[in-house]
Amino acid sequence: MDLRDKRIVVAIGGGIAAFKAVEVVRELQRRGATVRVAMTASATRFVGPITLTGLTGTPAVVDLWDPRYAGEVHVELGAWADAVLVAPATMNLLGRAAAGLADDVVLATVACARGPVIFAPAMHTRMWTHPATTHNVERLRAVGAAFVGPVEGPLASGEIGMGRLAEPARIVDAVEAALRPGATDLEGVRLLVSAGPTHEDLDPVRFLGNRSSGKMGFALAERAAARGALVTLVSGPVALTPPAGVTRIEVRSALQMREAIASRADEQDAVVMAAAVADYRPSERAEHKRKKAGEVQLTLVRNPDILLELGERRARLGAHRPVLVGFALETQDLLDNARAKLERKKVDLIVANEAAVGFAGDTNRASLVDAAGATALPAMSKHALADRILDRVRERLGVEAPPERA
Ligand code: CTP
Repeated sequence: MDLRDKRIVVAIGGGIAAFKAVEVVRELQRRGATVRVAMTASATRFVGPITLTGLTGTPAVVDLWDPRYAGEVHVELGAWADAVLVAPATMNLLGRAAAGLADDVVLATVACARGPVIFAPAMHTRMWTHPATTHNVERLRAVGAAFVGPVEGPLASGEIGMGRLAEPARIVDAVEAALRPGATDLEGVRLLVSAGPTHEDLDPVRFLGNRSSGKMGFALAERAAARGALVTLVSGPVALTPPAGVTRIEVRSALQMREAIASRADEQDAVVMAAAVADYRPSERAEHKRKKAGEVQLTLVRNPDILLELGERRARLGAHRPVLVGFALETQDLLDNARAKLERKKVDLIVANEAAVGFAGDTNRASLVDAAGATALPAMSKHALADRILDRVRERLGVEAPPERA
């Protein structure tokens, strides 16, 4: 019930995903929020205002000139709401919002919002990847709007691609996150996050890899961007879609990852190494596919330790930046090993995971280990853990948390 006592306006745009706004409203209510609905005229073609009026117990507003309101309905809604959620946000709505238009009740309410505005875009892949949309999302982010999704999946057209509305639970998570005090406390902080496994090629078709899903690194990137950081996400091969507003650099091997990170580290305020970098790579990569031939022995050579190199370089320079965070996955002596890693790699914080938890799942249990000691955290979602890690990064950066929203 994390949204108890919160008042949310759900502003529905005219896309096929509009019918899912019903589920979003219910999820908001399930978490304790009071919801009112505004919708564009085209949204009413996909979902009936009566449905939303019935669900929320207050009339869904479609008309800016609704005679039931003595005053200005958009001003009233904007002032009433702790947050305004636009779901689904169509290409057209994003463009009009970015241009500062306010010619219907949805946009006028967005313009009058006194709290955070969260956009949950949904559209065809070609519309989402259109340069105009990219530009509009950047403009809206620049004035403090938060984004959740879209995600990859089946689209209304029957195709599979990027542009599907995020799951209702994730959308409501984003509303919760935007309402958390200090939601933009990392404004302007330059943060590099690494994620996923590395693939070390044996030949053109085979590689050595590991089971890292990349979810922890992507959660860090998403939460950091939502909190205002300028995020660069260096990821190994993963099947995940990067969050909106994050610069993504795709790499494959540990050597490529090292190059991508080392060449950018000096311009970062913090580097969080969530990637499961392979410690070894085959001593040689065959140019052609290897033929089977009885028993085979592989010779592996050590990969550079990217985090260790960053820590040593920083120590050599006598610098405090970038703040360095590493992960440790251990099967035994979790805290002792994490402490040893903290000192050896000369970093500020180690997030120590038990090997039994983590990887593909959406939750994680970890301890945060720094020079002052270890804090064992309860099991929580990777997004929640990301926030705890980012809190530590912020403390380390000495960035003041902004005052709570009025
Ligand atoms: N890491 C790295 N480069 C590597 C290997 C690991 O930057 N070649 C980073 C990981 O991203 C992680 C941290 O170092 O943040 C811990 O990695 P881990 O493999 O657990 O630690 P090791 O020091 O390799 O220790 P172990 O002996 O347990 O393998």
